[in-house]
Amino acid sequence: MAEDAILGYLAAAEEIPDSGKFASQHGLQHSEVVNVIKSLHGFRYIDAQDIKRESWVLTDEGKKYAAEGSPEVQLFLAVPQEGSISKDELQKKLQPSVFKIGCSQAGKNKWVDMGKQVSRKVQHVEDKVKDLLIRVQNGEEIGKDDVNSLKARKLIVAQTWKGYSVRKGPNYAPKRKKVATDLTRENLQRGDWKELEFKEYNFNAKGPPSESGHLHPLLKVKQQFKNIFVQMGFEEMPTNNFVESSFWNFDALFQPQQHPARDSHDTFFLEAPSTTRELPEDYVELVKRVHESGGYGSRGYMYDWKREEANKNLLRTHTTAVSTRMLYALAKQPFAPKRYFSIDRVFRNESVDRTHLAEFHQIEGLVCDRGLNLGDLIGVLDDFFSRLGMSKLRFKPAYNPYTEPSMEIFSYHEGLKKWVEIGNSGMFRPEMLLPMGFPEDVRVIAWGLSLERPTMILYGIDNIRDLFGHKVDLSLIKRNPICRIGLN
Ligand code: PHE
Repeated sequence: MAEDAILGYLAAAEEIPDSGKFASQHGLQHSEVVNVIKSLHGFRYIDAQDIKRESWVLTDEGKKYAAEGSPEVQLFLAVPQEGSISKDELQKKLQPSVFKIGCSQAGKNKWVDMGKQVSRKVQHVEDKVKDLLIRVQNGEEIGKDDVNSLKARKLIVAQTWKGYSVRKGPNYAPKRKKVATDLTRENLQRGDWKELEFKEYNFNAKGPPSESGHLHPLLKVKQQFKNIFVQMGFEEMPTNNFVESSFWNFDALFQPQQHPARDSHDTFFLEAPSTTRELPEDYVELVKRVHESGGYGSRGYMYDWKREEANKNLLRTHTTAVSTRMLYALAKQPFAPKRYFSIDRVFRNESVDRTHLAEFHQIEGLVCDRGLNLGDLIGVLDDFFSRLGMSKLRFKPAYNPYTEPSMEIFSYHEGLKKWVEIGNSGMFRPEMLLPMGFPEDVRVIAWGLSLERPTMILYGIDNIRDLFGHKVDLSLIKRNPICRIGLN
């Protein structure tokens, strides 16, 4: 072992002058000797001084000739002892580079006659180049002229060799003492703690990273949206029911029972419990009437409204179901203007792709007050989205069963250099608000958007399955930075 060899050697000798020579004398790898020297030096068992030496090593070409012979000798041996060989014939017997270099070197050495026919001029040659290369390979010293000629032929290159000279250090001992890292019960019982040498504390060592929980990017972005809503005076609605009845999810929103969204291809219906237990009967009656025959200046949808359809339980398809319940409760009280918001999960029976999942999060805001109009909606949307850093908005007329007018919201994306759809909005219809019991001049403006879309843009994620679901890389959750919307 290198450590025993070094400490043992220094017990009798003053110095190890050269770690390289020491390694080869003791049959050790120099790299191993160097590692041990560094460690022993660190604990001051030894003092080590750097030494550097210029040495020569073979290039790939040099290594080849050391093994196969120099090109000139290879060429000489390919020429017959008697007579001659045509140059073409000779070329066929040798590798192209060996032939080329061999011709010029053997010609220069006057070993062969080079013409159309090649013949030997001497009977015997020695491969001095090969011998020199082998000596360099073995670490032997060679003469200056030889070095220069091998260097000129690019068969050797200089290399700085690094090693150490070593002497005893202040803590020298022929064997390394084992330092104790712990004081044990046995040490105390045996009393050997008196002799023990303890390892010093390393106050600079870094501790292991502490374990802690991490917020998912969706939660971080959600918190930013909450902050914006709260700054604008909105109150959060309770969204803690994923299961909803068709009544609150669709009927109360004046969404007709034949509407395609109410198909099981678009909506997840519950098997158990398949129907809701109770609905406010007076209000159900008013909703039925507005669907069937209208009222409040509307003709209604003119179809037979079925209670069984309204009773069916489903996973809510939008958070507007929550808004509807809240508005219904609000209408029961003496009127006071309100601003409500919610951010929570919704479910749709959709085929999954890189931008769609069967469940996602909706952000929804609404303002309820007397005499609101479309200008108020545009104003609130401008305020809300400019707080998100989106100040260029455009609106496109759209259709929702429960809002009139309805507008899709577009924002100009500076990165993509185009208008992208960011949400949906509108004014809730009188057919929805008046059966709830609101005074006639009360208007509700509302809008909704997904939480996933802005989160994917903010965190540069282009496949929704990398953000949500069983394929999410947990280290993404650990690493993702905090989110600060609108402060830049
Ligand atoms: N509920 C709509 C949707 O799911 C969003 C919306 C909310 C539209 C409020 C208008 C008013 O897309």
